[in-house]
Amino acid sequence: MHTAQKIMKVFITRRIPQEGLKILSQAGVCKVSLWDSDEPVSRAELLKGVAGAHGLLCLLSDKIDTEVLDAAGPNLKVISTLSVGFDHMAMDGVRVGYTPDVLTDATAELTVALLLATARRLPEGVVEVINGGWSTWKPLWLCGHGLSGSTVGVIGLGRIGMAIARRLKPFGVKKLLYSGRTDKSYAAEVEGEYVPLDTLVSESDFVVVSCALTPDTQGLCNKDFFCKMKNTAVFINTSRGAVVNQEDLYWALSSGQIACAGLDVTTPEPLPTDHPLLTLKNCVVLPHIGSATYSTRGIMAELSANNLLAGLQGTDMPSELQF
Ligand code: NDP
Ligand code: DGY
Repeated sequence: MHTAQKIMKVFITRRIPQEGLKILSQAGVCKVSLWDSDEPVSRAELLKGVAGAHGLLCLLSDKIDTEVLDAAGPNLKVISTLSVGFDHMAMDGVRVGYTPDVLTDATAELTVALLLATARRLPEGVVEVINGGWSTWKPLWLCGHGLSGSTVGVIGLGRIGMAIARRLKPFGVKKLLYSGRTDKSYAAEVEGEYVPLDTLVSESDFVVVSCALTPDTQGLCNKDFFCKMKNTAVFINTSRGAVVNQEDLYWALSSGQIACAGLDVTTPEPLPTDHPLLTLKNCVVLPHIGSATYSTRGIMAELSANNLLAGLQGTDMPSELQF
């Protein structure tokens, strides 16, 4: 005689790709309750939805703090986030799954696209074509900055930072600098030179931020930082908005302290449409789409579902955060 397996409760905070939902339904070990919308779950609905749950599948836009953990109660075994970043989560005695590696290529590709679009002024050019500003070919019009012969500085040469460096090198980048907490032996592949942050900031023609958001990196790119950059330098951030002091960035862009900036991440998200940064021609802002390819999002959903199942069943997760 065998005891019937207890069906565990899972709360998912948003509509996610079918690939993930299919894995959970086929596993037959949990009953899924889903916030069935593309818009975020309200705080009240989150606290209600998570009550008594054994597993929570969340997004980077959900703040998972002790209030949520308390609302979940003692059943909670696992939190699985559909992201590699985990700065939105409190991690207090609960196993946490995340989605490293599977989004690295998509995010690096988007970072290169944003860098080129910003440096070569693509959004400005597109607008000029549409609004009739394109009168003729003009030698001095819409000139930007090229990668060939440049120095690129990557802040945070982790999975994504390294993938960005690999993609940028073939554009003819002369020098690849990086900074972070530790020197990386794998940086040799891109002839990366580990330098203090100040050196990177003052010597780079392109500064690319791809570090994690931590107490140490919060507000790292501030007035002091922008003052050290070259007036011709391009600033790109695809990590988290809070790494940048946006008032200081606005000052740097509007005063000509730096040439231009491309941001895939902001504070807050979405950035209000009347935000001063959106008035600047030399600032390109994207709506946090680094990992947004169909296949990547499908694979992220699969991985987060498999992480969740492993957490529910007490087995090894494909990608578990180690604290
Ligand atoms: P990794 O953990 O591989 O890399 C993070 C890097 O941050 C490490 O190289 C680490 O350097 C660096 N870092 C940590 N602390 C500091 C510091 N004080 N100063 C400088 N660097 C520091 O993560 P991933 O590359 O996979 O992802 C990086 C981040 O990218 C995520 O945390 C997320 O916020 C963001 N992201 C954004 C996406 C988007 O859509 N725009 C998509 C995916 C991720 P060290 O090893 O030396 O400590
Ligand atoms: C992450 O995974 O942290 C990104 O910001 C979204 O894919």
